[in-house]
Amino acid sequence: MLLDDRSLHASSVVANNAMNRQRQLTGVNSYARVLGFDPADGLTGAWLDLCCGSGRALIQAAERLNGSATLIGVDLVDAFAPAPPDTVSLVAAPIESWSPDRRFDLITCVHGLHYIGDKLGLISRIVRWLAPGGRFVADLDLSSVRLEDGSPAGRPLTAALRKAGIDYDPRRRRISCAGPKEIIFPYGYLGADDRAGANYTGQPAVHSYYRK
Ligand SMILES: C[S@@+](CC[C@H](N)C(=O)[O-])C[C@H]1O[C@@H](n2cnc3c(N)ncnc32)[C@H](O)[C@@H]1O
Repeated sequence: MLLDDRSLHASSVVANNAMNRQRQLTGVNSYARVLGFDPADGLTGAWLDLCCGSGRALIQAAERLNGSATLIGVDLVDAFAPAPPDTVSLVAAPIESWSPDRRFDLITCVHGLHYIGDKLGLISRIVRWLAPGGRFVADLDLSSVRLEDGSPAGRPLTAALRKAGIDYDPRRRRISCAGPKEIIFPYGYLGADDRAGANYTGQPAVHSYYRK
């Protein structure tokens, strides 16, 4: 049986204490390492970090940027580092029902989409929140997007992403795009499976089911 968002948010696969929520801005266990760039380098304006975990990367960016950028983190679970500086807002909310009241120069989602039900629907919402010239980068395991018969959405999905202006790096399993976009993917969301098992990160993740 496929799960709706409410059941998914209560699942031990999505809301557990074992996941890595402690990535720092730079260094061994870091955003810079996962993303391939240091998010605070040259950052002006605003950075939105979805599924931000403890928010440590944002807090460290704030310290380095001396208050010159607006930094917002959103996570389902309030496991935030204590006492963030004034320029960092950490919001405990499911990302599926949260909306910003501004646009962003950088939006990241580091190892967060693995736990989302409607991954494609969320990506379409996120890219609308970019400022002109803004950048969106996220980890995405394409094999977690499945069709009704259980098969991976595969190459047609990669083509749909490209057509929508989203780059997919298969080696790093990372999507990225620039600027705001209006995307309608040709996939209808059916529900999620939290019993999909471990993905390439070694952690149990969620498969998302669609009708093409
Ligand atoms: C593997 S952790 C990564 C945390 C952080 N990005 C890091 O790298 O340190 C995945 C995060 O996604 C969050 N998450 C899962 N489902 C979510 C949802 N529906 N809305 C917001 N956050 C969610 C989890 O609570 C968890 O903190």
